[in-house]
Amino acid sequence: MALLVSIRSSISSLILAISLAAATIFPAHAAQNPPAIFVFGDSLSDVGTNNALPDGYHANHAHYGVDFPGGVATGRFTNGYNFIDGIAQHFGFEQSPPAFVPVSRGDNHVSKGVNFAHVSKGVNFASGGSGIMVECMDGTAKKCITMDKQIDNFKQVRTLLEQLLGSKYMNQLVSNSLFVFTCGSNDLNNFFDKYSCIFPFAPIDEYVANLTSAFNSQLRKLYELGGRKFAVINVPALGRIPTARALDVFNITGINFERVLNGYAQKFNKAEAAMLRELSSSTLPGMKYSIGNAYSVIMDVTNKPKKYGMKNVVDPCCGNVQFVPALPPVNITYCSPTAWLCSNRSEYAFWDNIHPTQPVIKYGGELFYSGVPPYATPINFKQLVGDDQTAPRRGASLRGVGSFEAM
Ligand SMILES: *[C@@H]1O[C@H](CO)[C@@H](O)[C@H](O)[C@H]1NC(C)=O
Ligand SMILES: *[C@@H]1O[C@H](CO)[C@@H](O)[C@H](O)[C@H]1NC(C)=O
Ligand SMILES: *[C@@H]1O[C@H](CO)[C@@H](O)[C@H](O)[C@H]1NC(C)=O
Ligand SMILES: *[C@@H]1O[C@H](CO)[C@@H](O)[C@H](O)[C@H]1NC(C)=O
Repeated sequence: MALLVSIRSSISSLILAISLAAATIFPAHAAQNPPAIFVFGDSLSDVGTNNALPDGYHANHAHYGVDFPGGVATGRFTNGYNFIDGIAQHFGFEQSPPAFVPVSRGDNHVSKGVNFAHVSKGVNFASGGSGIMVECMDGTAKKCITMDKQIDNFKQVRTLLEQLLGSKYMNQLVSNSLFVFTCGSNDLNNFFDKYSCIFPFAPIDEYVANLTSAFNSQLRKLYELGGRKFAVINVPALGRIPTARALDVFNITGINFERVLNGYAQKFNKAEAAMLRELSSSTLPGMKYSIGNAYSVIMDVTNKPKKYGMKNVVDPCCGNVQFVPALPPVNITYCSPTAWLCSNRSEYAFWDNIHPTQPVIKYGGELFYSGVPPYATPINFKQLVGDDQTAPRRGASLRGVGSFEAM
């Protein structure tokens, strides 16, 4: 008994000591709004998660990162900063929160103030190649971290924050934080790959319904874990990415793959928007969202290159894609140290065979942050975060979180 009490009291004084150490770091961020950013999704958001996967999709080699500070290839799937960096910078952070893997490496990370400082500003769980339902396995090779696993990883970080801050402050931190998502593109691309030969009969409506419902469950899970502010970047105009454009040659046969792929993206984006509206208006009290319209951003830039200072909105700046009369019909030269590199990155809309260049990302990020519909709906990311400083909203979100203290 006495032993138990003394163990208990030394554990609580240990936790108190850690909390105090945390508190000395915490106030600096408490003033920041949002206090932290948690990121989920695919290669549009990944800042190095995949670097730790030996068989993963990688961007931690030249020419990736050629325009990142120091010219470093960090694992970001573009030439410079990605969407998440841009959004984080608008909110006063230096760049995206760190990838989950480096943060979680090592057993003693709980006691390290420096890692706490990282975690307390958020974590980026995104993994290139992932989707909403993408399983991330190619035979026995693990290509990426699934969305469900990303959410489990968030749960771990949440537990760590709870140990460090106590549940009340952890819940405050989580409910005021921004949860950002880029997902759906790889699901739709995989569906297209599977059905493209017989595309008129592809059960796209059913697939979109399945995808939307899976994403709905994932968002609910994050809501149960305390998330309230969801910033969702929708699926870009997939028909305009260089790999899809290479199939334009089929247009003369009456099959327009660009239209098929853009149609997939539009269907999903519409269903996703309806799902989010429903969740926030009637299902999850205090849940708020903003949709950043990546679809419109890519359409704008590819429809009117000159207006955006672009000279080439069809080909990748790094690597090459080319139609070949063979299977598969697109010959892709991936971006690598030996791949061709365009001479002026700011004149290309696409960095590699899939991902946009930094100028396009910057244009999009600004619109998601402070733009108006159709670029940011129903409110923009700034409003999503700023809104909560008003008393009624804050009350609502804290009430919703209250139930966790009982758990
Ligand atoms: C949608 O989900 C149902 C139920 O899991 C499944 O039977 C069906 O095959 C799915 N449809 C598509 C197109 O993936
Ligand atoms: C494909 O064909 C349609 C109809 O002929 C045309 O309007 C469209 O511009 C073509 N698309 C491309 C990418 O060439
Ligand atoms: C694919 O592209 C590469 C580089 O552009 C080229 O060397 C190769 O011959 C192409 N393959 C085919 C089948 O055309
Ligand atoms: C790159 O292109 C941009 C936009 O056209 C132009 O302003 C800039 O001067 C170019 N830079 C170089 C090094 O040519």
